Amino acid sequence: MKNYSLKTVLFILSILLAAIISASLVIYMQSAFGQIKWKLVAVVFLSSFVTSLLLLAFINVLIFSKLNLLLNTVKNYRTQSDKALVPVSHKGNELNNLNCEILAWADDRKNEIERLKKLEVYRKEFLGNVSHELKTPIFNIQGYVLTLLDGGLEDENINRDYLMRAERSIDRMITIIDDLEAISQLETGELQIESERFDIAAMAKDVCEAQEMKATGKGIILSLPEDGKQVFVFADRFRVRQVLTNLIVNSIKYGKEYGETRVRFYDAGDNISIEIADNGLGIAKEHLPRLFERFYRVDKSRSREMGGTGLGLAIVKHILEAHGQNINVMSTEGVGTVFSFTLKKA
Ligand SMILES: Nc1ncnc2c1ncn2[C@@H]1O[C@H](COP(=O)(O)OP(=O)(O)O)[C@@H](O)[C@H]1O
Ligand SMILES: [Mg+2]
Repeated sequence: MKNYSLKTVLFILSILLAAIISASLVIYMQSAFGQIKWKLVAVVFLSSFVTSLLLLAFINVLIFSKLNLLLNTVKNYRTQSDKALVPVSHKGNELNNLNCEILAWADDRKNEIERLKKLEVYRKEFLGNVSHELKTPIFNIQGYVLTLLDGGLEDENINRDYLMRAERSIDRMITIIDDLEAISQLETGELQIESERFDIAAMAKDVCEAQEMKATGKGIILSLPEDGKQVFVFADRFRVRQVLTNLIVNSIKYGKEYGETRVRFYDAGDNISIEIADNGLGIAKEHLPRLFERFYRVDKSRSREMGGTGLGLAIVKHILEAHGQNINVMSTEGVGTVFSFTLKKA
């Protein structure tokens, strides 16, 4: 049925009713008196039209006050839920509107349930990953302590060594817990971004110097722009340092011996684009879409061996998203990897 407005429907119905009553009168007069009094027919038509209009309008007000109440309840219910709503366009009469609202409401519920199901899967996966990650260092520590208790403590050859190994495992647990804490703060939105103007070229130089030992250990050269120009951005200094450190450390960890990591800055309109490129292992295409997921690692054993938690890139992505920015990766297996992200120019 077309979306006639209610007024039109009422009007047409009243005319129909009046017409039926008048027609019956005409038929009656014709058969009873053999003649028709048109004046009377006109009066009856008009009065029955007005009466039906009033009656129908009254019923309509009664019904639609209830319908409106229902419509408002559904609407309020929808606007109170904080999740993205399926937009509803109101056209036509109240019945149609109510129908649209209820359908949209059902859609909302469906989306919400899907979202909750996904969260549930993620929660289970996350818990499984966390316990798995923590298990290894804990079992190691247990092994060292038991050996020490079993007489190792008195054995000058191993007692210090085992304690040092246990210490390394504890360090590993602290790294995992620090990363987990960062992830959970970033995901619950607890973490406030405190932006300020700073020179990211100077920061990159600083980070490279801090990682110099690790790099030279593998014969990797960390290269910065030769002009040494200042590049000012407006961002959270502490968090951006975390991003740079994560990406530069990754380029060393997954870089090849005697390779090179290049850090470069490009003007990108309102933004500065920062590129960290290496000529290391590279990443196969099929891994790229999942690279920024928590705990995702291309080569699990290699990453663990390198002291990685698989949370670094997830943290990096969160930090940049909190800045309203993005990160991209391009990589060719065996050739190298380029990570690039943007920050607001200052
Ligand atoms: N520059 C890179 N070259 C090759 N692979 C990389 C590079 N950066 C990251 N990766 C891959 O992405 C995975 C996820 O990185 P990340 O989240 O930092 O975790 P982690 O370094 O703790 O393993 C790494 O395990 C590694 O397999
Ligand atoms: Mg990392």
